[in-house]
Amino acid sequence: MALDLDSIGSPIGPMVKDYTWKDAALYALGVGAGFDDLDYVYEKQLKVIPSFSIGAVFDFLMTVATDSAADLRGILHGEQDILFHAPIPAQGRLTTTGAITHMYDKGADKGALVVASADTFHDSGAKLFTNIFTLFCRKDGGYGGENAPGDRTTFPDRDPDFTQEDTPSADQPLLYRLSGDVFALHVDPDFAKASGFDKPIMHGLCTHGYACRAVIKHLMPGEPERMTRFRTRFSKTLYPGVAVKTLIWKDGEGRALFKVVNQDNNEVVIDNGVVEWMTDAEQQRRESLGDIHVDGKVAVVTGAGAGLGRAYAIELARRGAKVVVNDLGGARDGSGDGSSSAADEVVAEIKKAGGEAVANYDSVSTASGGEAIINTAIDTFDRVDILINNAGILRDRSLVKMSDQQWQQVLAVHLDGAYNVTRPALRHMRGQGYGRIVLTTSAAGLHGNFGQTNYSAAKLALVGFMNTLKLEGKKYDIKVNTIAPIATTRLTDDILPPDMKDKLKPELVVPLMLYLAAQQCPDTGGIYNAGMGFFSKAAVVTGPGATVGDGQTPPTAEELAAKIQSIRSLKGAKEYGDLNAALMPILDAFDPKDPIR
Ligand code: NAI
Repeated sequence: MALDLDSIGSPIGPMVKDYTWKDAALYALGVGAGFDDLDYVYEKQLKVIPSFSIGAVFDFLMTVATDSAADLRGILHGEQDILFHAPIPAQGRLTTTGAITHMYDKGADKGALVVASADTFHDSGAKLFTNIFTLFCRKDGGYGGENAPGDRTTFPDRDPDFTQEDTPSADQPLLYRLSGDVFALHVDPDFAKASGFDKPIMHGLCTHGYACRAVIKHLMPGEPERMTRFRTRFSKTLYPGVAVKTLIWKDGEGRALFKVVNQDNNEVVIDNGVVEWMTDAEQQRRESLGDIHVDGKVAVVTGAGAGLGRAYAIELARRGAKVVVNDLGGARDGSGDGSSSAADEVVAEIKKAGGEAVANYDSVSTASGGEAIINTAIDTFDRVDILINNAGILRDRSLVKMSDQQWQQVLAVHLDGAYNVTRPALRHMRGQGYGRIVLTTSAAGLHGNFGQTNYSAAKLALVGFMNTLKLEGKKYDIKVNTIAPIATTRLTDDILPPDMKDKLKPELVVPLMLYLAAQQCPDTGGIYNAGMGFFSKAAVVTGPGATVGDGQTPPTAEELAAKIQSIRSLKGAKEYGDLNAALMPILDAFDPKDPIR
C-alpha cells in the first residue's frame, strides 16, 4: 500500500487525555526514577519529567501511522523533537491537535519519512508543548517524492562534558508500558522472537526518558521546567538490563548535544540529541512577569497601530503572547486609503524587543475585513485566544448637522467592527473551549458627550453586545468584558486640556486590559473605567422601584408622580446578570408574599 499523500495537512484531533500526579509518577518510575529523583515521584513536590509529554500524545502518533497509510510492518519511530512552552502541571487535561506536515522519499530500498506536528494545551489554557514526530517507514520508499533535507548533528571532537551511566532493569519495559505503549514487542517473548529478536526489547521512548533525566541532572539539576527543547533520533534497539551511557557536550549558552550508547557493544541507540533550556536571564524575565499570564496565547488587537491599541499590543507581546497587530492606518476620522506603516511600525517594535507579531491592514468595518483579520491569526499562529476590539474613529457633529455618512461610518467602525471581527474569532474560541474578548466603550456612550450621538450610540451598543455575548460564551470559557478608557491619543489630542495630557498615558490603561485578557481572569460581563492609573467599575443597575395602583387598572400619571421619589431612588439598586433576572422584580411586584412591596 502506498503512502496517502492527501493525508498531509488533514487535521488530527483534538485528542483529550486526563492525567493525575500518579500518571506522571508512574511514567517517572518507568524511565528509571527512584529515591534519587524524589521530585519526579513524590506528590508533595512533584515535577513532571518533560519527556512525559510524548507519552501523553501516544495515541496521536498511532493515528499518524494509520492516517498516512504507511505499511505498518515497516514502521519505526525515527525521530522525536519536543518544544516546551510552559512547565507541565502535575495533573489536568491535555488536548492535542495537529497534522501530518511532510512526507519524504528516501528511495525504494531505503524507505520514506512521515513527519507530523502536534500542539498540546493544558485545561488551564496554557500551551504546554509541541511534538514533532518522524516515522521511518521502511517499506514505503520509492514513490517519487522529494528526499528529506539532511541534518546530522556533528558532535565535538573532545571528551563529553558529562557522562551519565544507567542500567535499566531487566523488567523495565513491563513498568514503562503501563504509561501507554503496550505494543507486544516489549512484553511478549513469542512476538519478539517472531519479529527477529531474542526477547522483548526496550521501548525507544523509555531510553528517551532515561536520556531526558540524564541531561536534566547535569545541565539544569532540579529544574526540569527549564527545558525548552529535547530532540532525539532512535538509531538502534536495546535489550532490557543492558547498561547505557548518556554522553553530553555543552554547545553554547542554554544548549547541549547528547547521545546514548549501549555499554555492551558501544552502539549508539539514541543519536543526534539536542537539548535546549532557559538561560538564567530568560528565567528571570519570565519570573518578573508575575501571576497574570498571556504567554503562549495568540492575541488580536484591532486598531493597534497607534494610541491605546499600540500600548496593548506591545504589552501582550512583552508578556509572551503572539500578536496580530491590525490597523488600517487611516486618518482620525477614518478617511483616506490607509497605510500599512502604522501596523508595520508596531510589529517592528515588538520584534526588536524579542516578541512575536504579525501585521494586518484590513478594515474592521466590513465582514470580509473581520474574517481576514482572524485568518491572519490562524494562518500565522494557528489559533486565536484573545481579541481586543479597540479600533476607533471620530466624526463629531451635533445631531442636526450630522450627515448620514458621519453617522454610519462611526457605527461601521465601532459597532459593526466589533461584530465583524468577534464573530469569526468566536468560532475558533468555541472550538477550543477558551477565549478572552475585550470591547471598548466610552464615557461618551455611558454618560453622553455633546456632538457625539453617533459615537455614543455605537459605544453603548457595545455594552449590549457584551451583555449577551457573555451568556453565549459562558460554557466555552469565553470571558467578555468592556473597557471605558481615557488616555491621550490622536483621538483625544485636541479635546483634552493641555495640563492633563501628560498624565493620561495610554500605558496607564494597559494593566486592566491585561487582567481582562489573561487566563486567570475570573470576570465576565463587566464594564471598567480606566485612566491615569485610576480604575473603577461601571454598571447598569436597577433601583428597587415601587408599584403604582393595583396592577389591574392602569394608574394615572398623577398617581405615578406621587410616588416618583421611590421610583427614582437607586438606594439598594441591583445589577442583574441577564434579562430573566431583571424581570423577576417586575413579575414579583404584586406578589402578596413579598411584604416590602
Ligand atoms: P487612536 O486614533 O490613537 O487609535 C485608533 C486606531 O484605530 C488608529 O490607529 C486607527 O488607524 C485604527 N482604526 C480606525 N479605523 C479602523 C478600521 N476600520 N480598521 C482597523 N483599524 C482602524 O485612538 P485611541 O484613543 O487609541 O482609541 C482606541 C479606542 O479607545 C477606540 O475605540 C476609542 O473609541 C476608544 N476610546 C478612547 C478614549 C481616549 O481617551 N483615548 C476614550 C474613550 C474611548
